[in-house]
Amino acid sequence: MQNMVKKAVIPAAGIGTRMLPGTKAQPKEMLVIVDKPVIQYVIEEAVQSGITDILIIISEGKEVLREHFSKDQVLEDLLKRKGKTAELEEIIKLTSLCNIQFEYQHEQKGLGDAILCAEKFVGNDPFAVLLGDTIIESPQPLTGLLALDYEKTKSPVVALQQVDLSIAHRYGVFVGEKIGERFYKATQLVEKPLKDNIPSNLVFSGRYVFTPDIFGHLRKTAPGVNDEIQLTDAMRSLMTERDLYGHLFDGVRHDVGNKLDFIKTNITLGLKREDIGKELGDWIRTLS
Ligand code: G1P
Repeated sequence: MQNMVKKAVIPAAGIGTRMLPGTKAQPKEMLVIVDKPVIQYVIEEAVQSGITDILIIISEGKEVLREHFSKDQVLEDLLKRKGKTAELEEIIKLTSLCNIQFEYQHEQKGLGDAILCAEKFVGNDPFAVLLGDTIIESPQPLTGLLALDYEKTKSPVVALQQVDLSIAHRYGVFVGEKIGERFYKATQLVEKPLKDNIPSNLVFSGRYVFTPDIFGHLRKTAPGVNDEIQLTDAMRSLMTERDLYGHLFDGVRHDVGNKLDFIKTNITLGLKREDIGKELGDWIRTLS
């Protein structure tokens, strides 16, 4: 996809508390789905969406994320010697996907604070945000679709999904007016509303396109839910100055940072793989 949004920020500094002890020494973004870490799926979506420059926000101890995308001459030489051509190609492709840089978030002060660490990288350009623990399966790369929305509206746009009202309190909730096929103009945003006061079943699903003016609002956002600086609160503040849109996407969101979804994602994506899909399906049928 060709579009005006070339930069992306991937927050990946958080502690994977819902997947402990699995994520004690290994970042949740490095958990493997079939044979690739989650973050690789996220970066592949960004690249397919036309993104050329990525900033990954990490915290101390998560340097393995950097290693995964760095050239490894020893491994390349070994694969060459052993004649493992397909694997070698995969590894070379992986380290040349696009320009990937890293920045530290030194204190865990929330998603909004993590995005703030990208201010210098973003400069004056529009940019995408892709949560590093979330894989999106959709007919077209979702970030690219949001970038197209941005080109039409010149406004920030967020990906939305519809969930059962009973679980909407786990998310950032979007209230808006429907203005097109799967397209909404925001009227109110609430991060993790109380269970008995859910204003809508449209929720944020880990993909956003912003303009750099979000940073001014992030800087003046006080800690909110869970005592963290919430991106949703900064977006609500931004809405006092400009329109913000929501795109109800066609597809599935896999939040790999929790046990059940982690297993479901492995099975769902495993079933779609040419190399193991059929055998996996046959085996699953023997379980019932
Ligand atoms: C974050 C966001 C929330 C969003 C969710 C899923 O919450 O703050 O608005 O709905 O991701 O993308 P978290 O899951 O980190 O608590």
